[in-house]
Amino acid sequence: MSVKIAHPAASNGASLQGTIAVPGDKSISHRALILGALSVGESNIHGLLEGTDVLATAKILRAYGAHITQGTDAVWRVNGLGVGGLMRPLDILDLGNSGTGARLLLGLASAQGVTSIFTGDASLRLRPMLRVITPLQQMGARFEAAPGGRLPITVMGTDRAMPIEYRLPVPSAQIKSAVLLAGLNAPGRTAVIEPRPSRDHTEHLLRHFGAEMTIGQDDDGARRITLTGRPELRPQTVYVPGDISSAAFPIAAALLVPGSQVTVTGVGLNPLRAALLDTLRDMGARITERNRRQVQGEPVADLVVHAGPLRGIEVPGERAPAMIDEYPILATVAAFASGATVMRGIGELRVKESDRIAAMANGLGALGVRVEELADGLIVHGHGGPSPTNDGICIDTEMDHRIAMSFLVYGLAAQGPVKVAGCQMIETSFPGFAELMTGLGAQIEAAP
Ligand code: S3P
Repeated sequence: MSVKIAHPAASNGASLQGTIAVPGDKSISHRALILGALSVGESNIHGLLEGTDVLATAKILRAYGAHITQGTDAVWRVNGLGVGGLMRPLDILDLGNSGTGARLLLGLASAQGVTSIFTGDASLRLRPMLRVITPLQQMGARFEAAPGGRLPITVMGTDRAMPIEYRLPVPSAQIKSAVLLAGLNAPGRTAVIEPRPSRDHTEHLLRHFGAEMTIGQDDDGARRITLTGRPELRPQTVYVPGDISSAAFPIAAALLVPGSQVTVTGVGLNPLRAALLDTLRDMGARITERNRRQVQGEPVADLVVHAGPLRGIEVPGERAPAMIDEYPILATVAAFASGATVMRGIGELRVKESDRIAAMANGLGALGVRVEELADGLIVHGHGGPSPTNDGICIDTEMDHRIAMSFLVYGLAAQGPVKVAGCQMIETSFPGFAELMTGLGAQIEAAP
C-alpha cells in the first residue's frame, strides 16, 4: 500500500532513522518477466518490482499468451512459450508510462510472426522510438508509427528476422536490449557494439536463462556483445535486488536531513548503474557498504548513510550512462551542497519521462536556487545548508516519477515545505515511497 495524497507537501522535521529495503530493480524486473515468457516451463521471480511500469509489461506478456501469476508467497511465476512462441495479441497493448517496456517489447515483437499495436500515456507518446525502429527494421520488422516515430506504433513482426551487427548511436541499454531480444529469434549471430557501455542486466539474465553469448572488445575499445539466436531458454529462479535508482531517494534524504542515519538493505550495485554513489562520495558523502554479496552475477550490498555537509563538484561526463536516472535527485542534493555542481554530457535527460534538465532547472529555479540550464547539462549553485522554498508554488512533475521524488526529498531538507503535484506517477517505479519515507521519520502529508 502506498500513501495516496493528491498534492503532498514534504517538510523539514526530525532526522531520519532506520533500516529499510526499497522495491526490486525496475530494469531487472522487466527483463526477468520477458525472459521467463520466452522459456518453456515455469520461472520463479522473487522481489519483482510491483510498480505500474512492470505490471504493464506483465499484462502485455499475458496478452502474448504467457501465463503469469503472483503467488500469495510474493513469488511471481511465469510459464513461457519459447523464443518464437508468442501468440497474436487480441487487443491494443498499453505500455503506460514505461519507456523501458516500450523499447524492450518493440524488440521482442519484431522477431515474432505476429502483428502488435502499442500505445502509452501522454508522456510516453512523446518519447523517441526511432532509435529502436531503425535497427529493428534492418532485422526485417515493419512499423507504422505516429509522426516522428512515436507511439502509437503497429509492429508487423517477422518469424524470419535477420541477425544484424549494430553499433549504438547513443549509449542506451534499451536499444541494446531491443536488438538482443529480436536477435533471440533470428538464426545466426546478432552483435551489438557499444562505444560506451550501458547497464548490462540483459546480458546477465540472458546467460542466466541459458543463451549463448560472448562479450569482447573491438580494436577501438568498444564493447561487442554477440548473441547466438534461437537458443532454447530454460526456466529459472530470479532474485531481483533492490533498485539503486529508487534507493537514491532515501539515500539523498538521509544525507541532507541533519542528524540522519539510514540503512538501505539489499541494493543492487551493478558497476554500470551505481555511479551515483561515487559522485556522492566525491561530494563528501559518508556512505558505507556492508554484507557485499553476488546475486546472479550482480553485486548487492547494504548501504549505511550518515548525514553530513557536502561540496559541489564537476561530475565526470563519462559517468553519465552509469547514473543516467539519478541526475534529478543529484540536482536536489547539489542545491544543499556548498558551491557549484556541474553536470554535463546529459543531453539524454531531455528525452526521458519528461525533459529532466528543464524540469529540474525550472523547479529548483522557482524555489529560489540559482541554476544554469545548458543544452546538455545543468549547473546548480548550492546553498551549503537548508535551501530556500517558495510557499506560493506547487512543483509540476510533468508525469515524471523521479522529478516528483526529487522535489519531495528537497522539501524534507529545505527551509519550508515543498508542495508537489502529480505524485501518483511515483507508483510507476516506487510503490510505497511516501510510507517508507514517513516510516523513517519524514513528514510527507496532504498539502493545505
Ligand atoms: C533502462 C535504461 C535507461 C534508463 C531507463 C531504464 C533499462 O535508458 O534511463 O530508466 O532498463 O534499460 P536508456 O538505456 O535509454 O538510456
